Amino acid sequence: MRILTGLQPSGKLHVGNYFGAMEPAVRLQDEGEAFYFIADYHAMTSAQNPTALRENVRELAIDFLACGLDPSRAVFFRQSAVPEVNELAWILSTVCPMGLLAKCTSYKDKVAQGISPNHGLFAYPVLMAADILLYDSQKVPVGKDQKQHLEVTRSLAVKLNEAYGPGTAILPEPIIREDTALVIGLDGRKMSKSYNNTLPLFGEEKVLKKLIMKIPTDSTPVEAPKPTAGSTLLALYQLFASSTDYATMVAEHEQGGVGYGDFKKRLAEAYWDYFAPMRVRRAEILATPGYVDEVLAAGALRAREEAANVLDRVRKAVGLR
Ligand code: ADP
Ligand code: TRP
Repeated sequence: MRILTGLQPSGKLHVGNYFGAMEPAVRLQDEGEAFYFIADYHAMTSAQNPTALRENVRELAIDFLACGLDPSRAVFFRQSAVPEVNELAWILSTVCPMGLLAKCTSYKDKVAQGISPNHGLFAYPVLMAADILLYDSQKVPVGKDQKQHLEVTRSLAVKLNEAYGPGTAILPEPIIREDTALVIGLDGRKMSKSYNNTLPLFGEEKVLKKLIMKIPTDSTPVEAPKPTAGSTLLALYQLFASSTDYATMVAEHEQGGVGYGDFKKRLAEAYWDYFAPMRVRRAEILATPGYVDEVLAAGALRAREEAANVLDRVRKAVGLR
């Protein structure tokens, strides 16, 4: 079974990305042949900054490997290392009705956020469909926000098969991660880089712990019981603590007698310990010059091999060969 997903290199990874995307992807490596890529072409649709793009791609590669992506099991590559994807995107664009793209909410949302309404942003779902179909992907794990893009992908696969014969494209199944809890940010809203409320995965200990100490809390005195419903501290603590430690903190909220400063200190420690193995792995990766480049080069070679087969089939079907 071929499992494929892409991640946009769009800045420092945070705890929400970890639990919402990386950790599920790492678990899926054992269930089939995973193809994971860094969607650098897609990142260009919302920012045009070559230095940042290069850095973000590198950081994402390092961080994903540190989080447990195992290149001996998963094929890990940069989207742009397989430029064949553009040819398939073009072929798909010729069977893609304008109305299908006009319906996509993510384009409208991004334009509303102030991103320039460029053609790449509008055609984003076609390139994403090409990413998926180029590798005959069977399962595509994505967050809820990508559900519509998977529907577009399936429609385009059907259209290609209607126009050029069954089997030209293989229909993928989405795996929508409905079950991954929404990770709450430091201000109680969804953790997101657009809200500037994130807890980064990696960084300086002092800076990161300080972020936790600054989480806003109410003014309940130390002795008094504290509300547990809607508590940002407890929601975050639950991600990192054992169930017994979590239950203890809930009980201490209910009983009173422990101040928010104490709870925050414990949260900061639990968070720091949780990511300790990933930090160690990250340091090892950084201490091995050339490692990341080698992994990505080997991944690209393998991905390109597969892409060449599929593209050959599609070119013949459409009459380009
Ligand atoms: P951001 O909201 O910070 O811009 P992205 O949209 O780039 O994050 O998300 C990348 C991946 O991380 C997606 O799969 C998304 O579902 C997941 N993700 C992001 N934020 C959260 C969160 N707060 N809780 C759970 N998953 C998240
Ligand atoms: N659009 C996806 C996101 O923003 C990233 C992506 C690009 C992707 N191509 C893909 C995900 C193909 C799955 C399959 O999260």
